[in-house]
Amino acid sequence: MKLFIDTADIEEIRTVARWGVLDGVTTNPSLFAKTSGMTYDEVLAEICRITDGPVSAEVIADDVDGMLREGRHFAKLADNIYVKVPMSETGLEALSRFRAEGIKTNCTLLFTANQGLLAAKAGANLLSPFVGRLDDINQDGMTVIRELVSIVEIHELESEVLAASIRNPLHVTQAALAGSHIATLPFKVFQQMVHHPLTDQGIAQFRKDWDKARQALAKPAATAAGRAAGSRSGS
Ligand code: E4P
Repeated sequence: MKLFIDTADIEEIRTVARWGVLDGVTTNPSLFAKTSGMTYDEVLAEICRITDGPVSAEVIADDVDGMLREGRHFAKLADNIYVKVPMSETGLEALSRFRAEGIKTNCTLLFTANQGLLAAKAGANLLSPFVGRLDDINQDGMTVIRELVSIVEIHELESEVLAASIRNPLHVTQAALAGSHIATLPFKVFQQMVHHPLTDQGIAQFRKDWDKARQALAKPAATAAGRAAGSRSGS
């Protein structure tokens, strides 16, 4: 399963890229609103310098012409831009127009497998069901991932399922087991996946034992040196 980071924070993206586990990036207007000092275009261009994996840039317009205008603009920023289009009647039309133009897309704000099926048929390259937001309203978000993965596989659709709105490491494991092609995770979830109390304790214990062993090795040498110095002084 490919792992994307769900952020517009350049430092977070750089960090995960350095770990060697970054396959792409998803951004949205809310994530961009948390950044400062750069325009959305500048943020996207910088992200595309860090990774050559898919980078999703979300349109704001709610009419087809507006979506097309914004999406074409984003697509010119870099070859790896995927235009993120929300599920709606106008969104579907925009997706099929982008497909005809060869512009890659990510259909966002999916909450049912049927919405994903429509997006796939309209030509979306990536299908983004929001797991956490469904869990928030007491529905099982992972069921949509499982259903959509099955639909894509049974009907040999070309789109990939991207598990979005991931809130914790368990979501990542479940999405991977469900066969999701991609999951996009907040930086915090990447960090949570790295750490385990037993790993951290184990590292600390190994360090402590190593230091103890080195001190034990150093002691006889120090004692011998002390004896030699003593005999030279005639004591
Ligand atoms: C996906 O592309 C979205 O940006 C994101 O996963 C939404 O997550 P949230 O529900 O935590 O805002």
